[in-house]
Amino acid sequence: MCGIVGVLGDHEVAPILVEALKRLEYRGYDSAGIATVQDGALDRRRAVGKLVNLSDRLVHDPLPGRSGIGHTRWATHGGPSEANAHPHRAGRVAVVHNGIIENFRELRERLNGTVWESETDTETIAKLCEHYIDAGMTPREAAAETLSHLDGAFALAFLFEGEDDLIVAARKGSPLAIGYGEGEMFVGSDAIALAPLTNRLTYLEEGDYAFVTRAGAEIFDSGGRRANREMREIAAQATQIDKGGHRHFMAKEIFEQPTVLADCLSHYVSGDQVLIPEGEVDFSQTDRLILVACGTAYYACLVAKYWFEQLAGLPVDVDIASEFRYREPPISAQSTAVFVSQSGETADTLAALRHVRDKAASVLSVVNVAESSIARESDLALPIKAGIEVGVASTKAFVCQLGVLANLAVLAARQRGRIDAAREAELLTTLQSLPALTNQALALEDQIRRHTGTLARAQTVLFLGRGAMFPLALEGALKLKEISYIHAEGYASGELKHGPIALVDKTVPVVVLAPRDALFDKTISNMQEVMAREGKVWLVTDKKASDGVWKTLTMPAIDPLFAPILYAIPAQLIAYHTAVHKGTDVDQPRNLAKSVTVE
Ligand code: AGP
Repeated sequence: MCGIVGVLGDHEVAPILVEALKRLEYRGYDSAGIATVQDGALDRRRAVGKLVNLSDRLVHDPLPGRSGIGHTRWATHGGPSEANAHPHRAGRVAVVHNGIIENFRELRERLNGTVWESETDTETIAKLCEHYIDAGMTPREAAAETLSHLDGAFALAFLFEGEDDLIVAARKGSPLAIGYGEGEMFVGSDAIALAPLTNRLTYLEEGDYAFVTRAGAEIFDSGGRRANREMREIAAQATQIDKGGHRHFMAKEIFEQPTVLADCLSHYVSGDQVLIPEGEVDFSQTDRLILVACGTAYYACLVAKYWFEQLAGLPVDVDIASEFRYREPPISAQSTAVFVSQSGETADTLAALRHVRDKAASVLSVVNVAESSIARESDLALPIKAGIEVGVASTKAFVCQLGVLANLAVLAARQRGRIDAAREAELLTTLQSLPALTNQALALEDQIRRHTGTLARAQTVLFLGRGAMFPLALEGALKLKEISYIHAEGYASGELKHGPIALVDKTVPVVVLAPRDALFDKTISNMQEVMAREGKVWLVTDKKASDGVWKTLTMPAIDPLFAPILYAIPAQLIAYHTAVHKGTDVDQPRNLAKSVTVE
């Protein structure tokens, strides 16, 4: 997703803007740019590719000024190019944008006769604002009028010719924060971008816009009325992004899992009972649970379906967020909806939440960013306590999402009279054993690394699992796909013979995720079918396996109910080391963004 920064400083802002954009690189991007105002003159520099290209441009063609805005662009309308890079400019107006303007073509028609430099929706915003300035409005009036014509999702920052002390900021559907300095003011997509500059932030609410000057910020709500928004002090660790000695953020985050999982699990336990510190969660009258998410978070929901149904006897529907509202699901007034999202900004998931908000009995969210849109728009936001996740490929967030969902399933089981206090205590003891077990699984890294060279040379890799390990097979395949660019598919083990086994030959590695559970023997049978066709089986299990497999990874023994949490570790390490073998950009894989804030 795109990143936005703005600075009204008392020093040259170009280097400050670039440094702030570097702290937003984790979001994924393919071009970048800044604009400044110097003695009233507005100018900009843009470059395709990584920020180093913009820095090079600025060395050869400096951009002076103590007021400025900057942007990292993840292409939506129009490919990566300098012409499509932000800031977009129209005469006296420069603007940077995160989101999608859905009515930009209609607005372009209103501006007939305009010569367009780009294919972007954002350029339309700049041209429209310039149009209102031409009509005699002040920059503040023109920006406010422009906002009233925009449909869609946006976080925006405007800069104006002749205005050395003004940034206009606006938020609708994409987060934007105002930062308070000493005689300086800032605007940014998140606390991470602004951390070196300030930890005093005000997050704009939906529909807000603000006139920011070095004296402070005048904030207005969607109705144009002055609004008071809370200023918070953001804790330092919430903005620390460093690799901790690891080669990649993803490696650091994989190895943080024992610690963050322990934090996550203990947050929801009091004595021998599940306790939700954030507020009341009651499943006793729920007639159906709706779990909605995208990508890895969706696979966490698929795992959780087994837990809620087996432990709590609660019917569960799990939906991909981008499909959910278009299938027009019947939603009863007794249903509970849970939206799972690491970033809390995924547009598909946010849109699905808004579709449900007035229909379901309660709307919960399981998120990693407390002030995110999804957190703010749910009745209750449950934190996963994973800490900042920078790597585009989600790892520790997945495991902590499972930790929260497992606790909720145990809570639901108690509330619905399905387990007694002793069984609740037993389940929580098993969950509490997981951090140590994940540590043991991490110790298998060298064994895993030795065999990922074979996977790196494969054209296709299959992941198999049964029961709650089937969603984990899907997650393992996604991890591999998204960071190594190798085609991979996850299948229910029993499903392979219904077609996909046609893919299997001696060139196809097949990772079988099979803890010692009631389905183990059936999984081994499916594995034999693969080996009968020369498939290279890599068996990940805590049970002595049959010989003939290509490789076996012996895992620590665990209660199979919560095995998906533990088996995420080898799935992640297999993907990570395969990608390292291939030399891909592990933390910022091609085409991907850390949070997809467009539908
Ligand atoms: C996971 O590794 C991917 N980066 C992606 O599938 C991600 O899980 C998905 O986009 C959902 O993101 P969210 O959890 O921030 O909503």
